[in-house]
Amino acid sequence: MAGRYPQAWLDELRNRADIVQVVSAYVPLKKNGSRYWGLCPFHGEKTASFSVNPSMQLFYCFGCKAGGSVIQFIMDIERLEYHEAVKFLADQVHLQLPQLEYDPNWEKKRSQKERLLAANREAARYYHQTLFTEAGRPALDYLKGRGLSDSVIRRFGLGAAPDQWDALTQHLKGQGYTEEELSLAGLTIIREAEPATEDSPARPRRVFDMFRGRAIFPIIDVSGNVLAFGGRILGQGQPKYLNTSDTPVFNKREGVYAANLLHKERQLERVILVEGYMDVVSLTQFGVRGVCATLGTALTVEQARLLKRFAPKVFLAYDGDSAGQHAILRGLDILQAAGVPARVLDFPDGLDPDEFIRRDGPEGFAKLPDISPETYRMRRLREQYDMTSQEDRMEYARACARVLKGLDPVAIETHLAELSVQTGFSREVLLQQIGQSQPLQTVQQQPPRRPRPAPAPAAAAETVRAQELIISLIAAKQLPVDAAEEKDFDDPLLKSIYAALSEGAQVADIVERQATADDRARVSQVLTQELPQSVDESLLMARQCLKALRRQRMEKELQQIMARLNTAPREEQGRLMAEAAQLTASLNKLKNSR
Ligand code: UTP
Ligand code: MN
Repeated sequence: MAGRYPQAWLDELRNRADIVQVVSAYVPLKKNGSRYWGLCPFHGEKTASFSVNPSMQLFYCFGCKAGGSVIQFIMDIERLEYHEAVKFLADQVHLQLPQLEYDPNWEKKRSQKERLLAANREAARYYHQTLFTEAGRPALDYLKGRGLSDSVIRRFGLGAAPDQWDALTQHLKGQGYTEEELSLAGLTIIREAEPATEDSPARPRRVFDMFRGRAIFPIIDVSGNVLAFGGRILGQGQPKYLNTSDTPVFNKREGVYAANLLHKERQLERVILVEGYMDVVSLTQFGVRGVCATLGTALTVEQARLLKRFAPKVFLAYDGDSAGQHAILRGLDILQAAGVPARVLDFPDGLDPDEFIRRDGPEGFAKLPDISPETYRMRRLREQYDMTSQEDRMEYARACARVLKGLDPVAIETHLAELSVQTGFSREVLLQQIGQSQPLQTVQQQPPRRPRPAPAPAAAAETVRAQELIISLIAAKQLPVDAAEEKDFDDPLLKSIYAALSEGAQVADIVERQATADDRARVSQVLTQELPQSVDESLLMARQCLKALRRQRMEKELQQIMARLNTAPREEQGRLMAEAAQLTASLNKLKNSR
């Protein structure tokens, strides 16, 4: 059972360690409006999109979406765990660390997300320990057979899922987790009972482990949370890898494998992004730093932004087969859209990074040139055309011109000579072609938006936005808590913030209570937005938001009642009609109010 700092002491710490002062030691800040702005220390940028809100004591970057309280800031910038960051700040402001409090109800009070994360952590421990027992022997033999050392196995916390139906499920139930929780976490599969049919007998309800007889790769985030697992079959068979699907604590489009290790690397010049779990583990064993993988999906913009926080450049090091080559072209588009400088490692002979480094060693890997995105794109184009045909050479020249369009003159110059030799067109003609070309079709980068006070949203589509505004007005003390009600919120995260605010919780504290980095960032974003300067404007905005929300809610309720009316038994119809009439009256009153 973990201890917690007493609330009053944490409040005192946050009072003394003022976020503007703390951040200023790392980032020069300038005041603009009610907030301070600076260049984000977590991703490379030239215009300031990093903001600090002194009244909320929160930071938020509109570029890379990092955000949180002063403790979160120290965790991110000094790469510390929560308790280390608290100690670091306490030292700075000469505050003595208090006794941790042990609360017997803590287990019960934790939110669902925290329980799922705790179940995952216990599962990771169980898998890892099993690896070194008889039940884990086949998995250990398999990993050893692939050349992995004990030390790299421990570093990645690799494990074994025993070849049994429900070993993990039983173990975790013994620790107090329910079958429903384990199923939500993606650790356990519940197959409901099925009655007998003509061709098959009845099947009883069965509960069994998601991963059985596999080598396990835990997926861990920068805060050390175990989010999910990948499980490799031991040898041949399908599917080769089984992965946790999305759960309340895991979104495969947002994380990368080995983020926990990347976070600890210092002064990384580049992140190397590969396709597979094995590639990450294997390259790391051979001493390559800063390797991570996407999780069985194409690179997403969210992942690109995450990578930007670890290093100024990303090397795409996908498999040398045709699927990998296609994925590189997509990946380059995404990285460009996210404003992340990229290079490509092009592996020969269709090898993947693991196979290549085993064949050519770390020296061979170090010698592999990293090539520019345009060089890579032109290399791939070159394979599509028959250079002995005049027509193909023209098409190739045009396609290359589209690739080069928009690059800086020096980059263009380095390719012109070679392109001229390949196609037989003079440099002048090629330059002209480049000038006339349409730029390559890619997702355009959204410049970071500095939000201005937003107009109140128009009813339907913007209900979440309306809820966000209400929450931030309350947090900024521009609106009393009881002006809204818990049922005004249907977004689960915003509903829980509202509940915390009505219990009098401090804003920074609410942010820190969020279980995942995503939620912390979202809450920071919601709470640090620019609000109207005058009380009148705030109240007007709040009134419009609440009106829109309540109107929507009542309309929905009314629809539900009408739908039920059609099928309700006679004795219920009278009551439903009365409810509908009352709702309609309230709705009309609301619509006519200012
Ligand atoms: P690969 O098939 O390239 O696997 O899939 P690999 O990394 O070379 O694995 P080994 O060396 O055979 O063990 C790359 C990635 O695609 C996802 C996994 O994330 C894997 O690491 N994948 C692949 C799946 O999710 N399911 C599969 O069945 C196969
Ligand atoms: Mn492989």
